[in-house]
Amino acid sequence: MALTSSTHTATLSFSDGTPSLELPLYQGTIGPDVIDIRALYARTGKFTYDPGFLSTASCNSSITYIDGDKGELLYRGYPIEQLATQCDFLEVCHLILYGELPNEKQRNTFVSAVTHHTMAHEQMQFFLRGFRRDAHPMAVMTGLVGALSAFYPDSMNLNDPAQRQISAIRLIAKMPTLVAMAYKYTIGQPYMYPRNDLSYAGNLMRMMFATPCEDYKFNAVLARALDRILILHADHEQNASTSTVRMCASSGTNPFAAIAAGVACLWGPAHGGANEAALNMLFEVQRQGGVAKIGEFIAQVKDKNSNVRLMGFGHRVYKNYDPRARLMRETCHEVLSELGLHEDPLFKLAMALEKIALEDEYFVSRKLYPNVDFYSGIVQKAIGIPVTLFTAIFALARTVGWIAQLNEMISDPEYKIGRPRQLFIGSQRRDVQPIGQR
Ligand code: SDX
Repeated sequence: MALTSSTHTATLSFSDGTPSLELPLYQGTIGPDVIDIRALYARTGKFTYDPGFLSTASCNSSITYIDGDKGELLYRGYPIEQLATQCDFLEVCHLILYGELPNEKQRNTFVSAVTHHTMAHEQMQFFLRGFRRDAHPMAVMTGLVGALSAFYPDSMNLNDPAQRQISAIRLIAKMPTLVAMAYKYTIGQPYMYPRNDLSYAGNLMRMMFATPCEDYKFNAVLARALDRILILHADHEQNASTSTVRMCASSGTNPFAAIAAGVACLWGPAHGGANEAALNMLFEVQRQGGVAKIGEFIAQVKDKNSNVRLMGFGHRVYKNYDPRARLMRETCHEVLSELGLHEDPLFKLAMALEKIALEDEYFVSRKLYPNVDFYSGIVQKAIGIPVTLFTAIFALARTVGWIAQLNEMISDPEYKIGRPRQLFIGSQRRDVQPIGQR
């Protein structure tokens, strides 16, 4: 959305003789003001410098608001605590995509559209056959999501709102099918087709866990827990993978390729791969001796030279408790109770680590609270989802957020292809010498 004129300005003055500059200051609905520096280079020949973009607003958005100090997360103004307890994932998808929660009629129309696009093209199976059976599901998902752009020529043009709409429905609808196919392929079981009489989370669980020989026995608590995991991971402002999708789409590529770029970025252990990394961390501490060895493990984490991090803890924005983690923690205890796993050694180890992180000065002083990934990994493990599939489930959930953010950018008349600059610290100009003189 084009920014309106500002009432305040920021004055930039320089000690190197560059004339001072007045820059517009814009206020959002809530949250920090921004200094519009778009004229800076043209007026001063200087760039700003902000690796990691800790102080940079890359865009204006009305989708998700995060207050890291308050531990607040709003999707289109609604607190995540209310959405996660009063809505289901497809209602939240409608909200994130179109800006409003659906009424009964809108909900039925949206659910029907998603339900009738859940099947993947039969040819998609042949892409899977090219992978080794032990391929990581995120390697498979990066390939499969990108491959969708070879099947839907009628929804490739990002600049056509109608094509963006159908590609959004196709992506949201097909991600569970592709994730389940990626899983079934790794365990050598036949693919299960989606069923139109099941909920979104129910379909995902059945496609992962049912076989042609035996259907999946549904458990409403587990299905609700999975639906809540999807809600909590649906969008999260301008995080690394969302910024990747925006940057990728800004070149005008097709929606499937842009979402595939988001899948690839989310895979990293500092980002969406943290839930898998958190469980692998628990497995390692368990292997070293479990609760009895936690002290030694925590000492490693505090030792900068060890490169050991407490995976599932800390957050670039939340310097208070991640509100999603609080909801996920509730769900975690519901699922452990439902399955009688509270006494399971792995989950007892997780609770012991959580207790230390919440009390130990090292973590408290650095505001390293458990994040959503710590508990979502525990819930998914308890449900029976393999650890290597956790990030694929995260990508499935985040697809709606990526699409909404991409749509918002493309609809902004001021958007341009992303093209950051740099502070060059390399060699001055020099001439090539003949090899005998180098
Ligand atoms: C997600 O951006 C998003 O919104 C992401 C996400 C989303 O929904 O899209 O929320 C999803 O990615 C959640 C985060 C999942 N990642 C992890 O759980 C991996 C473990 N966490 C860290 O790697 C780390 O906390 C980050 C990357 C998440 C955030 O790092 P920051 O804010 O850049 O913090 P930092 O690296 O500058 O660290 C500050 C201090 C350092 O110590 P000092 O130099 O001050 O002594 O805290 C330490 C760090 O060493 N630190 C940790 C730590 N995280 C930071 N020490 C031990 N364990 C950790 N996990």
